[in-house]
Amino acid sequence: MKGLIQWYLVLCFLLLSLNFKVDCSLSNFSSNSSMEVFLISKNKLVGEIPYSICNLISISVLDLSNNELSGAIPDCLASRGKMPNLTVLDLHMNKFHGNIPDSFVVGNKLQILNLNNNDFDGPFPKSLENCHDLQVLNLGNNKINGTFPHWLGTLPQLQVLVLRSNYFHGQISPSENESHFSALRILDLSHNEFSGLLPTTYFKSFRGMMTLSNVQRTSMEDLNRYYHFSVLVTMKGMDLVLERILTLFTTIDMSSNKFHGEIPEIVGNLISLQVLNFSHNSLTGHIPSSVGKLTALESLDLSTNKLVGEIPMQLNGLKFLEVLNLSQNQLVGLIPQGNQFNTFLNDSYGGNLGLCGFPVSKRCGKDEEQEPPESALHEEGIFPCPLDWKFVMMGYGCGLVLGLSTGYIMLTIGKPEWLVRMVQGLGYKILRRLKSYH
Ligand SMILES: *[C@@H]1O[C@H](CO)[C@@H](O)[C@H](O)[C@H]1NC(C)=O
Ligand SMILES: *[C@@H]1O[C@H](CO)[C@@H](O)[C@H](O)[C@H]1NC(C)=O
Ligand SMILES: *[C@@H]1O[C@H](CO)[C@@H](O)[C@H](O)[C@H]1NC(C)=O
Ligand SMILES: *[C@@H]1O[C@H](CO)[C@@H](O)[C@H](O)[C@H]1NC(C)=O
Ligand SMILES: *[C@@H]1O[C@H](CO)[C@@H](O)[C@H](O)[C@H]1NC(C)=O
Ligand SMILES: *[C@@H]1O[C@H](CO)[C@@H](O)[C@H](O)[C@H]1NC(C)=O
Ligand SMILES: *[C@@H]1O[C@H](CO)[C@@H](O)[C@H](O)[C@H]1NC(C)=O
Ligand SMILES: *[C@@H]1O[C@H](CO)[C@@H](O)[C@H](O)[C@H]1NC(C)=O
Repeated sequence: MKGLIQWYLVLCFLLLSLNFKVDCSLSNFSSNSSMEVFLISKNKLVGEIPYSICNLISISVLDLSNNELSGAIPDCLASRGKMPNLTVLDLHMNKFHGNIPDSFVVGNKLQILNLNNNDFDGPFPKSLENCHDLQVLNLGNNKINGTFPHWLGTLPQLQVLVLRSNYFHGQISPSENESHFSALRILDLSHNEFSGLLPTTYFKSFRGMMTLSNVQRTSMEDLNRYYHFSVLVTMKGMDLVLERILTLFTTIDMSSNKFHGEIPEIVGNLISLQVLNFSHNSLTGHIPSSVGKLTALESLDLSTNKLVGEIPMQLNGLKFLEVLNLSQNQLVGLIPQGNQFNTFLNDSYGGNLGLCGFPVSKRCGKDEEQEPPESALHEEGIFPCPLDWKFVMMGYGCGLVLGLSTGYIMLTIGKPEWLVRMVQGLGYKILRRLKSYH
């Protein structure tokens, strides 16, 4: 049996690292019950997952992402107690449809569930509340119809909740317990039909977004040997794939919904936020001056709402702010000057006819004509060194190296010696070749 496992690992390793595009389907898993890790992402697998996959009773990491697999997924994958050791289930970027099985049992060990970018429909699987160890839940870009799953608040480890681009709707009712969602760092509810007020009570409990320094390393590191979690976020107007930054990156994206009412003062407490996007809603009232306390903020988008009043001067204390979008509101008065505000162009303010001062062409009254602060541009340095990014956008080359090392680690767990040596040699050779290209 051990021999067999090694051969799968070798297979995975080859497929992953050399990026072979195989065009085949998953076959019979009947004799593979001791397999613990199965990584076969980024190929061209087609067809359905065979029911025999339920024989993988020892499986811990199952990554079938980035293929062209279709059909419904077998119930056992949602661990009806049949895969008791399953910690990572990654099916993102396939063509699965049907309901997400709703049979997660108490005591399961699932930590990462990534079903992003499929065609899953039906309701939200309520039994996910049994996944006590869940750290990452990504159901984005599907067709799930439901309301905000507030019951996930009890999951003590949940750090990433992505529901973007689904058919979620309704109000987010107030949190029942101040300790709910206390580990959350990435919340993406964008492109749904949520309505009602912004969830002020939840902003009080997102303790994971309130600490700047004491960033905790989590057990997620343990999984990194085999598997690297990635998540797509929109920031600075771009879609970026973030890899292996889970414990450092903090974002709230509630854009493109139907939220109304005011932006609560309390968002100013979420001081580790790097990205905040409330754009494309119907928010009213003033921009709270407490936003000026979000000193880690790099991307702030409040555009296309119904915000009124002046832009709080406190915002020019945001030293890392690289993208600001306040356009399509009803803001008035003087645009703050200095610091990062010297770097924004007038497309950050479009559609606010009452704004004046640099960089828009309207002057602020006769007495306080604004000259574009040319000198300031140079003195302050208009392109301040942005945060040293803690994410890596993996290119092809990096993927290759990653694949090689993953395969290598897997091989070294279970020998055989000759193969390790061979692969080592191969790895070096490829690395050397990559280097000589640069
Ligand atoms: C899978 O393999 C087992 C034996 O290894 C066999 O009994 C079973 O019929 C096969 N199933 C399919 C669908 O081919
Ligand atoms: C499962 O094991 C059989 C040998 O028993 C092997 O032929 C087959 O390739 C394995 N399946 C996978 C998906 O690795
Ligand atoms: C699950 O993992 C535990 C601890 O590693 C191991 O003892 C147990 O046999 C595994 N269960 C299965 C079904 O493989
Ligand atoms: C979602 O489900 C509700 C009923 O539960 C239904 O009225 C509504 O049309 C559904 N929305 C979509 C987009 O399917
Ligand atoms: C809040 O939740 C925590 C943990 O989930 C629990 O220990 C506590 O009793 C709850 N408090 C209230 C008021 O429900
Ligand atoms: C905010 O979200 C919208 C989509 O809802 C997106 O188009 C925009 O680029 C985002 N803003 C930033 C600054 O990333
Ligand atoms: C700001 O958002 C509007 C839409 O809300 C968009 O048209 C515009 O290009 C954005 N500007 C910048 C600077 O991102
Ligand atoms: C924005 O700047 C461009 C040139 O940089 C100018 O043509 C345009 O009129 C300006 N728009 C506003 C609203 O100031």
